[in-house]
Amino acid sequence: MDYAVSTHDLTKVYEGKVKALNGVNLKVEPGKIFALLGPNGAGKTTLMRILTTQIKPTSGEAYVFGLNVVRDGAKIRQLIGYVPQEMSVWTDISGYENLLIYAKIYGIPPSKRNELIWSVLEEMGLKEYANNLVRTYSGGMIRRLECACALLIKPKILFLDEPTIGLDPSARKAVWEKLTAFKREYNATIFFNTHYMDEADLYADEIAIINGGRIVASGTSESLKHTLGGEIISLEVENSEYSLKALETLKMNNVISDVIVSESEVNILTQDAESSLPKIMEALRINKVLVKRVSINKPTLDDVFLKYAGTRIETAERISNVRQMRRMIRRG
Ligand SMILES: Nc1ncnc2c1ncn2[C@@H]1O[C@H](COP(=O)(O)OP(=O)(O)OP(=O)(O)O)[C@@H](O)[C@H]1O
Ligand SMILES: [Mg+2]
Repeated sequence: MDYAVSTHDLTKVYEGKVKALNGVNLKVEPGKIFALLGPNGAGKTTLMRILTTQIKPTSGEAYVFGLNVVRDGAKIRQLIGYVPQEMSVWTDISGYENLLIYAKIYGIPPSKRNELIWSVLEEMGLKEYANNLVRTYSGGMIRRLECACALLIKPKILFLDEPTIGLDPSARKAVWEKLTAFKREYNATIFFNTHYMDEADLYADEIAIINGGRIVASGTSESLKHTLGGEIISLEVENSEYSLKALETLKMNNVISDVIVSESEVNILTQDAESSLPKIMEALRINKVLVKRVSINKPTLDDVFLKYAGTRIETAERISNVRQMRRMIRRG
């Protein structure tokens, strides 16, 4: 079987110094929704640019449906749809006119254009807005129009670079409803980059976590959470620097399975929070770590990311920047 995507020890070094990808090995099966989850600068866009044949890897290999991204670029481009991270439609013309331009770029014969354009407008829920100027669209409608452009060639695989960044929850949901319906109808593969844990959790069949140009963990959401064990005790503490040492003995004695300290937060993985919590509190008290708040949760993808990347993904500031920029572009 040809994988929809496979990479072998893929690296990318920009300008001889910035190592954006550092030995990426990935396999994505056809017909799956695959999420590449990672923080700012992790290498997500770089990987997607290589897979969509826009830039070449520095070393290693990458294949899309068995085709080599360096040698078979033209063939790959006939199979893929791509929605870039940046805005990719014109705002001073209508949605229909944007699609017409893309149809011409893709070389779709004139006799087929009109029907195809209306079919993708329908698929993305934009039919009634087709003749309105894009600058009057909401952020979610613009993203759906960009997806519609990518769907014109009925791609076998759709690459989406942060498809819902900066959108509010209901607009994000609408984008995903349309994308999953498209995927079901055509049995297409979707490969998307995201910062949003919940999005990877909800929609992806498989997830890979990328950090610093390396895949640090991969699997289904359930299997990733499972690697963390039973429960997470999160503590907000003062002088967290002493907490690692304080909890060392408990870890050695298998009362707890792991400790991750991130600023004033201490996250402890344990099979059974009820029995380990008193021992944890005692160990912290002896070591003069002041506990301000305690919560017990089942592991989330956020915790998985914290474990494998050593930090939480910070999204708020970046999302507001993106939102502001797209708004400015839309207004012209
Ligand atoms: N054209 C370029 N020239 C030089 N360095 C680059 C270039 N493009 C990206 N980089 C660097 O490579 C690294 C990975 O960038 P990339 O855009 O792939 O990350 P990302 O995961 O998509 O980040 P974001 O979430 O911010 O979009 C970063 O350190 C970035 O600054
Ligand atoms: Mg990016």
